[in-house]
Amino acid sequence: MEIRKVGVVGCGQMGAGIAQVCAQSGYETVVSEINDELLSKGMDIIKASLATGVKREKISEADRDATLSRLKGTTKMEDFGDCQLVIEAIVENIELKKKVFASLDGICPEHTILASNTSCLSIIELAMATKRPDRVLGMHFFNPVPIMRLLELVKSIVTSEETLETAKSFGDSVGKAVIVAKDMPGFVVNRLLIPYLLDSIRIYEAGLATREDIDQGMALGCNHPMGPLTLSDLIGLDTIHFIADAMYEEFKDSKYASPPLLKKMVTAGHLGRKTGKGFYDYK
Ligand code: CAA
Repeated sequence: MEIRKVGVVGCGQMGAGIAQVCAQSGYETVVSEINDELLSKGMDIIKASLATGVKREKISEADRDATLSRLKGTTKMEDFGDCQLVIEAIVENIELKKKVFASLDGICPEHTILASNTSCLSIIELAMATKRPDRVLGMHFFNPVPIMRLLELVKSIVTSEETLETAKSFGDSVGKAVIVAKDMPGFVVNRLLIPYLLDSIRIYEAGLATREDIDQGMALGCNHPMGPLTLSDLIGLDTIHFIADAMYEEFKDSKYASPPLLKKMVTAGHLGRKTGKGFYDYK
């Protein structure tokens, strides 16, 4: 099946990045939010990212304008009715996501592929909320989406080969390198990344080193683009806590248990860059 029009549900940090990348790659793209205010905020994220791209000479002004002309914002799910692919990127709440999948199933034609950008939730549960479970899969993008090169595809036990192949071609067409993982919490990348981030929080909590030294240790000692506490702030501490819980729930292994400091910071609303405070201050 040829993908011409892509829908993106949710225009937060991830949804905005996904919508930008789709429109920038030539797809007619429609992105939704639950109200006009959030939609306008999401569109601003896309415009700011494109402006940075132009400033850094990654894209031309003409490409920026063409990208924006292919992009439509909406608050109506019905606008996904003529998409060949819809990617859901809303909050990590399985019940809400199931509702979105059931509603998309009623709106989109039978051939439309429905994907979720979830970083840990069960793809088969989302698939079973539809009457097309073979055309449902995970499409896990990485933050910041316009810059990060990877797309992790997640195949449930009933995702068809045809769906997977179409998703792989789509990934190539938006300039991402594709890997395929089974439908288990954390897939490949977060299964490795989350225990590492939790360990960095544990050693900070234990007073082994300052936050700056922990970060510099990994940035300079292992050539990581950013240290683990800075990266945690970028991802969002609530997101890390949520993924860790999902993995702990499944595997009951203490390496996935959130350290007390992480829980306290989430309770205090210190979620990282998005709230202006996490391990570092961003105000
Ligand atoms: N549009 C296009 N290109 C852009 C851009 C934009 N808006 N902003 C920056 N770039 C380009 C830059 O020009 C630069 O390109 P070159 O290397 O060709 O010069 C490149 O992107 C990197 O830019 P900078 O060196 O200026 O880097 P930065 O300090 O602004 O930040 C970063 C770069 C990509 C965030 C980097 O620090 C990094 O890779 N950090 C790690 C991020 C990471 O690990 N993300 C994954 C999180 S896990 C996740 O998302 C999954 C989950 O489920 C939790």
